[in-house]
Amino acid sequence: MTEFSHIPVLRDEAVALLNARDEGIYLDGTFGGGGYARAILDAARCTLWAIDRDPDAIARGAALAAAYPGRLHLVEGRISKILQLLGAAGVHELHGAVFDLGVSSYQIDDPARGFSFRVDGPLDMRMGKNGISAAMLVNTVSESELADILFAFGEEKASRRIAKSIVDRRREKKFETTADLAGVIRSVVRPDKSGIDPATRSFQALRIAVNEELADIQAALAQAAGMLAPGGRLVVVSFHSLEDRIVKRFFAHASGRGVGASRHDPSRLLEVEKPKFKLITGSPVSAGAAEVQKNPRARSAKLRAMERMAA
Ligand SMILES: C[S@@+](CC[C@H](N)C(=O)[O-])C[C@H]1O[C@@H](n2cnc3c(N)ncnc32)[C@H](O)[C@@H]1O
Repeated sequence: MTEFSHIPVLRDEAVALLNARDEGIYLDGTFGGGGYARAILDAARCTLWAIDRDPDAIARGAALAAAYPGRLHLVEGRISKILQLLGAAGVHELHGAVFDLGVSSYQIDDPARGFSFRVDGPLDMRMGKNGISAAMLVNTVSESELADILFAFGEEKASRRIAKSIVDRRREKKFETTADLAGVIRSVVRPDKSGIDPATRSFQALRIAVNEELADIQAALAQAAGMLAPGGRLVVVSFHSLEDRIVKRFFAHASGRGVGASRHDPSRLLEVEKPKFKLITGSPVSAGAAEVQKNPRARSAKLRAMERMAA
């Protein structure tokens, strides 16, 4: 079996902002390779609940759980079900929660998981190894729905042209592999000056759609924030503008800085009068040049943190 590894992004910054305390109960909502989890467990004599929807991540984490007896609890599931997953274990309050969103290198670098347009593999992209695969999606949805997915989740300007060529091609032969799909996209979209592979945005879009990522993030933020004890912090690392927009808006709203509503907009009257959270990061924290050089995934990372205030 090929060995993969995941270099955590902004780990030290995220763990410092989480501010874990001895005897506290924390959540790592995106366990992945356990890089954040280990650092949290080392930072304080706390208990950590760690969720991941990928059964491989949970299985790999068993060794880490054994190294911290009774302190690390691994839970397989989606972050949109935090209340249910932790509630079933009798956990109803948290002293902090962290999310390091997106895919891990274990997932993206393993051709068998079907996320990569660089190396050929089955067109899968399911983090949780269940539900509708990317192949099922591109082979069945309507052309207009496909174009909408590429535009909304990939911000792909050529969405209509790409969707048309995918639908034309699948009439002859269904898509089965990542290289096959990437080839069709590259035949429609020419590379621009940025040097970014023309398939990048479409692959991001399909991954987000297959895993219903944005809806999960929205639900996860609300549930984790609702479980925080006074002084508890919510720390989130995002990797592209669609994720960061959700986090930014959620934080703005929770801290009483509702985005968008003008002074004369009656919807302001409905806003929570006394904010329950304060922002810890005004502008998001980014990775420094040294980290980006070591790990290109860090380039687009943005970290935001907020803290639950006393009632
Ligand atoms: C960027 S990696 C986390 C890496 C981790 N912080 C570390 O240090 O190794 C993201 C992980 O979150 C998981 N994940 C992403 N979205 C999820 C969701 N909606 N529900 C549960 N797990 C999710 C992925 O399966 C992946 O393993």
